[in-house]
Amino acid sequence: MKGIILAGGKGTRLYPSTIAVSKQLLPIYDKPLIYYPLSVLMLANIREILIISTPEDTPNYERLFGDGSKLGLRIEYKVQEKPRGLADAFILGADFVGQDSVCLVLGDNVFYGQSFSNILAEAKCKADNGGAVIFGYPVANPREFGVVEFDENNRVISLEEKPANPKSNYAVPGLYFYDNEVVKIAHEIKPSPRGEIEITDVNRVYLEKGMLNVTLMGRGMAWLDTGSPRGMLKASEFVQTVQDMQGFYVSCIEEIAWRMNFISTEALRERGEELKMTDYGKYLISLSEETK
Ligand code: G1P
Repeated sequence: MKGIILAGGKGTRLYPSTIAVSKQLLPIYDKPLIYYPLSVLMLANIREILIISTPEDTPNYERLFGDGSKLGLRIEYKVQEKPRGLADAFILGADFVGQDSVCLVLGDNVFYGQSFSNILAEAKCKADNGGAVIFGYPVANPREFGVVEFDENNRVISLEEKPANPKSNYAVPGLYFYDNEVVKIAHEIKPSPRGEIEITDVNRVYLEKGMLNVTLMGRGMAWLDTGSPRGMLKASEFVQTVQDMQGFYVSCIEEIAWRMNFISTEALRERGEELKMTDYGKYLISLSEETK
């Protein structure tokens, strides 16, 4: 399975902070926002990753991650000239995806929770066997998201993008697993009234074919909103609290690469040395002195 991180967009809801720099490069506490969705792909054991961003910002991501080899990954980049909707990821990424299945994660989505790796492994396995897997997460403000409606037997009956009158309080987070059909489906989607090819329309095609799985994320999972300055601050506070309490870092991509055996203990230590002026670097060094 391949992975795509969509890190485009103008980030207008965060102006003026994002006039000159991409939202996904801003920090959530002690690391760039994009580390969080990247860690999701890594936890899903996906090592071939495409980062899609704007013409201005793509060079910044290249500076941040290079070819991915320091993380034991293969990272490629693709420029999106204009924001055309989330489903554009599969059009821009068609060659990269090739004949594989694919996981799309939005560059501004932060997930954290117990057993998340198991949830990811299950979703990956289902999509590899054909169909799509998306998630449902209860929120207080469903109007701001894609919304999924269930019948009394927990079967999905509708999907709506930012509905004025939501039929449930289950939002669809920006994490999607698909079989290879998604490339063809994305090419056939027509732009919505707001001029975008919507991921919700892609998911609806799977729903109509009876090939859409929706996994509910329960209370044990945190899906954090980074859509506003307040959301960014709250997410930062959340990460700080967890890290201070537990001593484990959230979405530390070098730690994940090491624990998943993508990189050696020496490589982890080397990275720690490069960053040793920070607590982050010191954390990497201390990990390299532990046994896994
Ligand atoms: C997008 C999707 C929406 C989803 C959300 C999750 O909306 O269109 O269905 O619920 O991401 O972050 P956006 O935030 O890009 O407006």
